[in-house]
Amino acid sequence: MDHASAQSLLQTHGQLHLLKYWADLSAPQQEELLADIQQTDWVVIADQARKSPTGESPLNAARFSEPPVCTCSTENEPASLYAEELKIGEDLLRAGKVAALTVAGGQGTRLGFSGPKGTFPISPVKNKTLFALFAEYLAAINYRYGCSLRWYIMTSPENHHDTRTFFEQHHYFGLQRERVCFFQQGTLPALDMHGRVLMAERHRLAMSPDGHGGTLRALRAAGGLEQLHQENVEYLSYFQIDNPMLQLIDPIFIGLVARRQSEFGSKVMRKAHDFERVGVFVKNNDHITVIEYSDLPAHLATERKSTGERLFDFANVAAHVFTVSFAQRLSEHADPSGLPWHRAVKKIPYWDIEQNRKVFPPQPNAIKLEQFIFDAIPLAKNPLLFEIRREEEFAPVKNAEGIDSPATAKAFMIGKWRRWLAQAGKTLPEIQRVEISPIFALDPQELQRKLDHQEIDLTKPIYLGP
Ligand code: UTP
Repeated sequence: MDHASAQSLLQTHGQLHLLKYWADLSAPQQEELLADIQQTDWVVIADQARKSPTGESPLNAARFSEPPVCTCSTENEPASLYAEELKIGEDLLRAGKVAALTVAGGQGTRLGFSGPKGTFPISPVKNKTLFALFAEYLAAINYRYGCSLRWYIMTSPENHHDTRTFFEQHHYFGLQRERVCFFQQGTLPALDMHGRVLMAERHRLAMSPDGHGGTLRALRAAGGLEQLHQENVEYLSYFQIDNPMLQLIDPIFIGLVARRQSEFGSKVMRKAHDFERVGVFVKNNDHITVIEYSDLPAHLATERKSTGERLFDFANVAAHVFTVSFAQRLSEHADPSGLPWHRAVKKIPYWDIEQNRKVFPPQPNAIKLEQFIFDAIPLAKNPLLFEIRREEEFAPVKNAEGIDSPATAKAFMIGKWRRWLAQAGKTLPEIQRVEISPIFALDPQELQRKLDHQEIDLTKPIYLGP
C-alpha cells in the first residue's frame, strides 16, 4: 500500500484524519502507519462506525428458555456416570485425535501484570506460572495416554515475542518443542464515540486484539487447521490462560462430544449467585447461546423455576471442545468467521489529532471491538453443555485483588487438593498449604494410589510433584 491508495481508502470510509501528520513522519513511521491501515479490516470498521456507541441489543426475555445440560451430581463420580463416554474419550486421546488450544492473546488489563498473563506465577507452594502448570498438565496426559498432543497457543502482536521467549527460556517445560505451536491473533483499531478510528501515536492506530472469537480465523491463517486436518486430528480442546484449575483435557467431555456427534461442546457450572459476573447459557428459540453478564437483565438473572431453582443457572466456564471440521467450516466464511462483533466502552489512551498530544482519558472514551468464541455455539450442529463441579475446576485469575484474583485462585487450588488428600485419608492442618502437580496425580484416584506407597509430612507445606 502507498500513500495514494491509503488516502483513497480512508476517504471512502470517512477516516482521512489518520493521515493528518503524514508529512511530519519519518519514512519508517510512514511505513508503520501504512501497515496498520493495510491490515485493518475496513469492512468491519465501516459497519461498526455507523452504529450507535453502545450498539443495539435489547434482549427479548420471552424467547429464552432453559438449555439442556449433561449434568453431574455430587453423589456420583463423573467417571461412573459417563463410563462409556470416558472410554470413547480415552480411545480418542490414545489414537492422537485430540489437540489442545489455549487463548493467551488478551491484554490482561484487570490483572495489571506487565508480562503475558501465562507467565504469571500462581501455584500456592512452588509459585509456578500458568504456562508451567498447563504444560505439566499436558505432559501428564501425554504420559497417561501414550500420545503427544499438539498444543496451539494464541498470542497477540503485543505479547507474541515475550511468550515465545518464555517457553525457550524454560525449555518448553519438558514438552517436545515442535509440538508447541504459537500463532498470532488479529487486531482491530478502537473507535471514538463518533465512529472515528483512534490513533495511539501520530503514526500508529490504536490497535487491540480482536477477541477470542478471532481464534479460528487466526489458526486457519497460520496453517494450524490445515495441519490438524492433515494429521487426522478430529477434536480441539479449547481453554483460556486464566484458569489454573481446569481439567484441560477431559476424556469424559471429549467422549461426550464425540458420542453425541456434537460439533461444539461447552463446560458449564451452576452460578454462585444471581449476579455472578459470568455469562449464562440460554436457549433462544432453537439455539443454545450465551448471554454475557453485562447484558443479562436483572429479571432474567433472578428468574426462578417452580422448584425455586434459578432458571438460567448454567454459567460459561470458557472451556470448549469442538471438531476440527467445524472450525474449518466456520473459518472459511468471508465475513470474519461469521461471528458478531461486540462493542465494549473502555478507557483507551489515544493521540489527540486536534491538540497533537497523547491523552490518557480519566473516563471510558472509546469502543473496543471483539468477537467471542462462544458465539460459534449456535452455528454448530448438536451443541452440547456438560456440567462440571466448580470446586474442582474453576479458579479464574482476572483481577489483581478481590474476587477472581490470584488470592482466591490459590485458595481454591488449596481447597481442592486438601479434599483430594482427605479422600486419600490424609487430613491436613487448616493452615497448611498444598500443591499437587498433575504429573504426580491427575485425579484423586491416582493420588490415592501413589500415596498408598508414600509417606508425607503433614506438618510442612506439601508439594507433590515430579
Ligand atoms: P478476558 O476476557 O479475561 O480478557 O480474556 P483479557 O484481555 O485477558 O483481560 P482484561 O479484560 O484485559 O482484564 C479471556 C481469555 O481470552 C483470551 C485471554 O488471553 C484469556 O485467556 N483473549 C482475550 C485472547 O486470547 N484474545 C483477546 O483478544 C481477548
